[in-house]
Amino acid sequence: MQPSAAERRPRSFDRVLSSMCTEPHPAARRAAERFLASNPGDPATYGTIAELEREAVAALAEITGLAHTLGGDAADVSSHGYVTAGGTESNIQAVRSARERADVVDPVVVAPDSAHFSFHKAASVLGVELRTVPTDGDGRVDVDAVAAAIDDAALVVAVAGSTEYGRVDPIPALADLAVDADVPLHVDAAWGGFHLPFSGHDWGFAVDGVETVTIDPHKVGRAAVPAGGLLARDPATLDALAVDTPYLETASQASLTGTRSGAGVASAVAATDALWPDGYRREHERAMELATWFADELRGRGLGVVDPELPLVAFDLPRATFEGLRERGWRLSRTGADEARVVVMPHVTRESLSAFLDDLDELR
Ligand SMILES: Cc1ncc(COP(=O)(O)O)c(C=O)c1O
Repeated sequence: MQPSAAERRPRSFDRVLSSMCTEPHPAARRAAERFLASNPGDPATYGTIAELEREAVAALAEITGLAHTLGGDAADVSSHGYVTAGGTESNIQAVRSARERADVVDPVVVAPDSAHFSFHKAASVLGVELRTVPTDGDGRVDVDAVAAAIDDAALVVAVAGSTEYGRVDPIPALADLAVDADVPLHVDAAWGGFHLPFSGHDWGFAVDGVETVTIDPHKVGRAAVPAGGLLARDPATLDALAVDTPYLETASQASLTGTRSGAGVASAVAATDALWPDGYRREHERAMELATWFADELRGRGLGVVDPELPLVAFDLPRATFEGLRERGWRLSRTGADEARVVVMPHVTRESLSAFLDDLDELR
């Protein structure tokens, strides 16, 4: 007989190597449990979680450099973003706002072919054309191809930490193009956003022309699922998303979903309180060191490896070995080009990667 839902255990992260979710920080777990039934979508009823959402947005504004551009005016930061259900909602909303504000008959969104599939959902749901442009041999968008495609665009998308290779597009160059063409630039840092403040890249609101950013606390931020983030330089971005909410005691709502997760919001605040900036910096350094070591180990075994720019390692692996590793319980996934990919998330350790390499050696 199947155990009941209450008796079942979630999968352990021990052998999970390809997920962008991870073990929540202990403080995030506790906060999530306290706010399981609070709805940030109804702030006039659930005041505490609404206040926590302002704190979450303030923390994300710090991390993405928005707070700095606002001159530290954190009091007003809630008109610049909200806690979404994840990267998909944030990306859909960035596209939706750009579509509303562009006010053209056939809106076009220009995005690299490395962009997450959530942009395909956005295009389908919103009836916009997704014009994909190629990436170069190293997985970053071809800036000349963007220049050739940008003229009639409602939005240009850059990826800061691509899902398959962890690559960061040349955001300053894309922002220059966007400013010249008077088109907003959206940066998808859903996964990369908690690494990038420490990696030396120019990526967030410090770059003129970056108008919106996706950054997910429920990935490297170590909040509970679901906790995504959408941030905007200009409050008009959120205004364009707002609809009237006649039966609530607040006038309007900019989020895509109605009822939202109080657990996600509260845990995002708890995780960022505990980890920003030093904890995230330490994790970035640990994960990069581990990714570099792992890449060297794979190269030492004669496997082709994509050099990690952020802590994500893609590498050549024969299909039979890949299947053998999956059978041994390793949760590993493949890129579109058929490489294996390992995302060095906070739960991935030197010990787990060494055990993985032992299994790999046995199977080859
Ligand atoms: C770069 C990027 N953007 C967006 C998403 C979608 O995020 P979510 O699955 O939280 O909706 C992902 C998910 O892996 C991602 O890697």
